[in-house]
Amino acid sequence: DDEADLTSRPPVVTIMGHVDHGKTTLLDSIRKSKVVDGEFGGITQHIGAYQVDVNGKKVTFLDTPGHEAFTAMRARGAQVTDIVIIVVAADDGVMPQTKEAVDHALAARVPIVVAVNKIDKEGADPERIKGEMSEIGLMPEEWGGETIYCNISAKQGTGIDELLETLTVVAELADLKANPKRYAYGTVVEGRLDKGRGPVATLLVENGTLRSGDPIVVGTAFGRVRQMLSDNGREIKHAGPSTPVEITGLNEVPVAGDKFMAFETEKMARHVGEERQKVKQVKDRGMNSAMSLDDLFN
Ligand code: GTP
Ligand code: NA
Ligand code: MG
Repeated sequence: DDEADLTSRPPVVTIMGHVDHGKTTLLDSIRKSKVVDGEFGGITQHIGAYQVDVNGKKVTFLDTPGHEAFTAMRARGAQVTDIVIIVVAADDGVMPQTKEAVDHALAARVPIVVAVNKIDKEGADPERIKGEMSEIGLMPEEWGGETIYCNISAKQGTGIDELLETLTVVAELADLKANPKRYAYGTVVEGRLDKGRGPVATLLVENGTLRSGDPIVVGTAFGRVRQMLSDNGREIKHAGPSTPVEITGLNEVPVAGDKFMAFETEKMARHVGEERQKVKQVKDRGMNSAMSLDDLFN
């Protein structure tokens, strides 16, 4: 990218942690206090990616399921993210998926903020949680470590503003840039088949700008962006870096974690899509391919 084309982009913040420790409640709480009521269409319920305005600055959040079956999703979440929030319930403590999420976040070398949740509950012991988290590599700043801790009650809305404040400070230090002038690329957050609309993909645009009508390859699927919706269900015509969008127009349903890329012409998209399909078929048969799927995006 041309240095001159780089501009600031919103941080992508992934919320991870053990099942039922309160990740989605936290995101609900953030959205409720910051997003105008009534903006949300039915479609948004399926999307685990939202952009929120925090004191005039956009922040993109990705929710991840804590269930153990979603290990791969947490690993991928850690790869596309700029900041990880580890949610840990103050009445429960460090659990297997807490540890796994921390490991992914540390491996991704991104800043980690710990949200000690459910401090409203009887038996909540935030200090004990700090001790347990220190043992798995996240020593709090106030104990001489590097990790910022926020005590919150996602349910009651306690500590949410402080957490958001912390995120904006961490994001500013990261000085995140992207080039909105290039063709878009990024990652699939979710893929599904809609009865009426066909294959639907939730995408996170990591770099560039995605436009409705763009020829696109998503995993091994290809097509043109037919309809593009923002996280609040509104139709939009373009989406810049760090924006989550829902698109239709693909010939098959992509898988979460797949990469996508927009192209100048439909012919190029079709060619790359078909080549990727061939490589995938070879790999699916358990054979080696000289090419990796992502080579075809380089
Ligand atoms: P998965 O997505 O299934 O991994 O769970 P999650 O981490 O998203 O947890 P979720 O937000 O679904 O919350 C699980 C339960 O904990 C729900 O019953 C919430 O109401 C409750 N809960 C979440 N946050 C708080 C809190 O701050 N205080 C109390 N008392 N309950 C909470
Ligand atoms: Na839950
Ligand atoms: Mg959840």
